Amino acid sequence: MIIMSSVICDTPTLAERYDKVSNSQFEHGKLLAEELNIEKGDCILDIGCGTGRLAEYISGIIGNTGRIYSIDPAEYRIQVARKKIEDKNHPNISFEVGSGEDLNNFADNSFDTVIMNLVFGWITDKKTALSEVYRVLKPDGLMGITTTSKGLPGPLMVIKDELLKREPYASQVGSNIASGRSITTDGLLQLLIDAGFGDINLKFRRTYINYRNSTDLIEFIEASHFGNYLDHVPLYLRDAYRSDYITELEKRQTAKGIESVWNMLHVIARKPSENVY
Ligand SMILES: C[S@@+](CC[C@H](N)C(=O)[O-])C[C@H]1O[C@@H](n2cnc3c(N)ncnc32)[C@H](O)[C@@H]1O
Repeated sequence: MIIMSSVICDTPTLAERYDKVSNSQFEHGKLLAEELNIEKGDCILDIGCGTGRLAEYISGIIGNTGRIYSIDPAEYRIQVARKKIEDKNHPNISFEVGSGEDLNNFADNSFDTVIMNLVFGWITDKKTALSEVYRVLKPDGLMGITTTSKGLPGPLMVIKDELLKREPYASQVGSNIASGRSITTDGLLQLLIDAGFGDINLKFRRTYINYRNSTDLIEFIEASHFGNYLDHVPLYLRDAYRSDYITELEKRQTAKGIESVWNMLHVIARKPSENVY
């Protein structure tokens, strides 16, 4: 299996913390599960399952006649996920180390639904991942993705991009690197069409979260980036950048905390059934 470089920076502490601070991801995942009409008895693949909160929730919906296979390349996140099920009777759920680009462990046409909640931006080879998802989905099966989009950056992303336009970063890093991981909405649509998906349904959802202060917000960002939050900045500039970033966050502090806006795409796409022509 290819281990993607982005997960090498993860630590047990970041993984444990993610499990506690990932309520916003969890809420988007629950909405996506609803949009996908996941039902009792379904066979599901959760790619980039993280610490397994959503997979555990879905295992409750599909019941004992269903099955959810959950994979993530970050070993520490898989360890946290496995702890959730070791004391409980969860015969319908499994957690394995694995990445979206390589679904060789799964047979063609085997899943009713494939879910990628806040994962797609992290996948390096998106084209391969989508063709793998297409292969393992049953005809008529659905894939659900929630993702940020490059054309719809939230304010936190904008802070990053604005900071990078200033010295000493501009000449060392270049601008617009921070939001470089996401894909544009058009780019995503084209990839889905090229992979063969049909019935593509795209919804834009905006959610707001208030963090008590910059410390809480930075903790959240670090845990959800599994050690990659500063990877766009050279090592010798990271302390300065972190402190400038915190200053920018603190300018946004109000009595209610610091508001973080999530501009999120929810995408549902279908693998056409074999007899559609
Ligand atoms: C923001 S977390 C989302 C986790 C989970 N889906 C959730 O809803 O909480 C992104 C996850 O993507 C995983 N990831 C990174 N690269 C990946 C890849 N190539 N294939 C699958 N997952 C990947 C990370 O390890 C991380 O757990």
